[in-house]
Formats: sequence, structure tokens, C-alpha cells
Amino acid sequence: MTGTLSSKHPDLECVTRDDIAAMDPRERVNFVNSLPGFKSLILVGTRNGAGLPNLSIISTAIHLGSDPPLLGMICRPAKVERHTYENIKETGTYTFNHVHESFYPQAHQTSARYPREISEFTSTGLTEFHHPEVTAPFVAEANLRIALKLVETLPVQANGVTLLVGEVIHVFYPTAIRERDGYLDLGEAGTIAGAGLDAYYRANRLDRLSYAKPDRPLTSLERGIGDPEASPPIR
Ligand SMILES: Cc1cc2nc3c(=O)[nH]c(=O)nc-3n(C[C@H](O)[C@H](O)[C@H](O)COP(=O)(O)O)c2cc1C
Repeated sequence: MTGTLSSKHPDLECVTRDDIAAMDPRERVNFVNSLPGFKSLILVGTRNGAGLPNLSIISTAIHLGSDPPLLGMICRPAKVERHTYENIKETGTYTFNHVHESFYPQAHQTSARYPREISEFTSTGLTEFHHPEVTAPFVAEANLRIALKLVETLPVQANGVTLLVGEVIHVFYPTAIRERDGYLDLGEAGTIAGAGLDAYYRANRLDRLSYAKPDRPLTSLERGIGDPEASPPIR
């Protein structure tokens, strides 16, 4: 039953596992997709073995580790055709392109179920960008573009989704967004954030803080420079 939680939080609603099970399916999708908070929005560029391009929005990109540089993404269960997943399995190569404020409606439109032979680049008006060393297509409108190589496929038994583990092979970004300690200012890049499955947000940086230590007070890092104690990055 939906209701108030306790006397400690009299103003908060409480929804239980049973309430979630009883929700209308659309409402459940919207509700549960809101729970992880703001998410990164990425357009995944792929090509099938015959060279046909595909583009699909995802919001499940995660950092798995920096050395080796690994990013994850979740693919939904293959109950219907999943072109992105099929293409990645077939070619082992894909691109992540950050969604920018200037093209979020086109990015959203890539979630439509287009037939395999229809390119979402053509249907949405986004532009393919080719790099000679990367077979998968990039999105020319994206400021931050990453080429990945599939290194592991992990099925999640609980619900049939798959975690794809990709190794970062190339990263392309505007010089001005990289701070001296390696941090990329995504706000400056114009990367937006997502919530649920259809909400798009502008990101405004509040601060960057010093490395937290038990015996040292936090300090605010100088904008554009990053952590003054970090070694200068090797370019
Ligand atoms: C905001 C948003 C986020 C999405 N995130 C994911 C995701 O993380 N993983 C996934 O498999 N599908 C996700 N989807 C659904 C895919 O975009 C959709 O299934 C698309 O049709 C897949 O295209 P494809 O068959 O060409 O790969 C998302 C859709 C939207 C609108």
C-alpha cells in the first residue's frame, strides 16, 4: 500500500515492492527508471557486418575502471531485435557519443524501433563521422566521442539484461574542456543529463572538491586547473 513512511519522515510517501508490482506497466517503467537518479545520455554508434550503420540512445553507461579504461553499458533482453547489441557482438566495435543540448530530440528519436535496414542517422538527421581507425560510426554533432572495443559480455540472470564491458580505444573532445589534472568539464562540453526515460536536463557545475582525506578539510578546486596537488597530465 502506498502511504507515509514513519513518524521520522511524515512528509514522504512510501512505495513498497508490492506497490511496484501492482503498478500499471508504463507507470512502473517511469517510476523505477527515475530511481537511479540523473544518468548519462549516450548515443551508441555501431555498424553490422555488412557495413550498415545504427545509432541508439542509452542511459546506462557506467565507469567500470580507469586502468584499464573500461566503460559498461546495459543492453535490454533480446525479446525483440536489438540492433546495437547484435552489431557489437558481430563486430566488437562501437562508439559512445555524448548527447548535447543542440540535438537531444534527435537523440531521443533514435529509441524508435526502426527496421534493421534503416539508419537512425538518416532518419533523425544526425551526421555520421568516420575515423579511419574506427569501423563504427561517430556522431559528428557530438563534442565528446569515444571508441570502444568489446572485451566482455556478462548476462544478468535476475532479469535477462546484458552488461557489455568495453575498453576505451580513442577519445575525441574539444581541447578547452580538459583541465590540467585530466578532468573533462562536461558542462563546458554541453553534455546533458537524463532522468527516467524521457526527461532531459542541463547540467550546471556546482563545484569541484579536493581529494577527501580524514585529516584534511575539503577545499574548492580552482576552475580550469583542477587538483593543484595532482601531477601535470602527460599529453
Ligand atoms: C532515454 C533512453 C534511454 C535508454 N537507455 C537504454 C539502455 O541503457 N539500454 C538499452 O538497451 N536500451 C535503452 N533504451 C532503448 C533503446 O534506445 C531502444 O530500444 C532502441 O530502439 C534500440 O535500438 P536498436 O535496436 O537499433 O539497438 C533507452 C531509450 C531511451 C529513450
